[in-house]
Amino acid sequence: MSQQRTQFASKFGVIAAAVGSAVGLGNIWKFPYIVGQNGGGAFLIVYVVCVLLMGFLAIMTEMSVGRMSQASPLDAFRKLTGNNRWTFIGAMGFFSAFMILGFYLVVAGWSLEYLVQSVTTFSFNGMSTEQLEENFSVFSTASVRPYIWTVVFIVLNVVVISMGVQKGIEKCSEILMPILFLVILYLAVSAFFLPNSYAGYEFYLSPDFSKISPSVVLSALGQSFFSLSLGIGAILTYGSYIKEGNIVHTSWQICLLDTLIAFLAGLVIFPSVFAYGIEPGQGPSLAFIALPAVFSQMPGGIAFSILFFLLISIAALTSTISLFETCVASIVDHFNLKRGWTLAAISLLLLLTCSLCCASLNPALHLTVFGMTVFDFFDYLTSDILLPLGGLVMSIFLGWCFSKDKFHKALTEFGMPEWLFRIYMVFVRFIVPVVILLVMLQQLGLF
Ligand code: PFF
Repeated sequence: MSQQRTQFASKFGVIAAAVGSAVGLGNIWKFPYIVGQNGGGAFLIVYVVCVLLMGFLAIMTEMSVGRMSQASPLDAFRKLTGNNRWTFIGAMGFFSAFMILGFYLVVAGWSLEYLVQSVTTFSFNGMSTEQLEENFSVFSTASVRPYIWTVVFIVLNVVVISMGVQKGIEKCSEILMPILFLVILYLAVSAFFLPNSYAGYEFYLSPDFSKISPSVVLSALGQSFFSLSLGIGAILTYGSYIKEGNIVHTSWQICLLDTLIAFLAGLVIFPSVFAYGIEPGQGPSLAFIALPAVFSQMPGGIAFSILFFLLISIAALTSTISLFETCVASIVDHFNLKRGWTLAAISLLLLLTCSLCCASLNPALHLTVFGMTVFDFFDYLTSDILLPLGGLVMSIFLGWCFSKDKFHKALTEFGMPEWLFRIYMVFVRFIVPVVILLVMLQQLGLF
């Protein structure tokens, strides 16, 4: 395979695509309610420390594996070591990406439904919280509608990915990410002017250190990994489309922007929720029940509502694109197949997987695995087990089994100062594996 590998065309394109992967439902849907439930500002501090100490290093690790190997996860480790012993890391990444897509595309579809409902119901006008709860539960357990939206989302992904790395993924991220940033900034500033918004800031930001326990620290770490798209090879795949540039700067910018957008999402949600007396600690249903309740009462709620669900849809789209691309590139590289056929085959398999996830939300069908719906099982298996496991084996590989000289060269040649490399190696060899192991044991309820 002497063919030249496609590369991202510009530095901005690299950042836009990687931030596009990182900023997703995890930032806008999950992060705010986790902060709200776990000590507000205190959790935020812990989260930022996790991003700086672990996330930042892990991004550099994945990117450098991608760049050194110029291959996607399934081949990267064989190319670096010359043997197949580590291919299982890439295989795990492939299956994780596929399973995340299984449930993530369904939620992404919900955001499109709510985007449309924002218009058709005139921003949920006149609906009480009970009606909104009913609305969400009837929709999410229905057999056809959620599936149609999921299919629409799959088609959007196929369109972008079929246009290729530069003209599809890079261009699309370059256009959508600035829009996303402007929309979230506009919403955060507007929320500031709502009546009683102060109470929202207080709930979101005033640090309650009594809530910080080891398990909260570990869930901050788990969330930072999910939010930064680490552990399954998505950043690795994008790293394989880069040959130049300063890896320290790029990783730093990704961490900063991803965290900033998650933080801004809270600045949109909590002042709004408090301004209209809606219960903030609702958890996952916050975006699809509590916020529509806010929009229904807010003057000009229709614009707010459309922009908010547009925001979630864009965030979800650029994240699913990176997951899709990880799957497609892995198969194309490994089996030397045509991109178009691979994309078609993976899309078909995803149609089946997503239909299982959608259907499992209908309690009458009893589609459960280990007592969980297929939807929850995929979420649990990937977020709580496969993602941290991916991070763990990658750090063991790089810290203990890969040539330190080659790794040193790969990082220092691309902007990492010597002192940082020394600290980095201590983290990769000792701290990252131990901490990830703790996170996993905690998530499995064993710690
Ligand atoms: N980072 C995305 C989010 O916060 O929603 C989720 C994600 C995307 C996880 C891509 C993993 C990945 F490879």
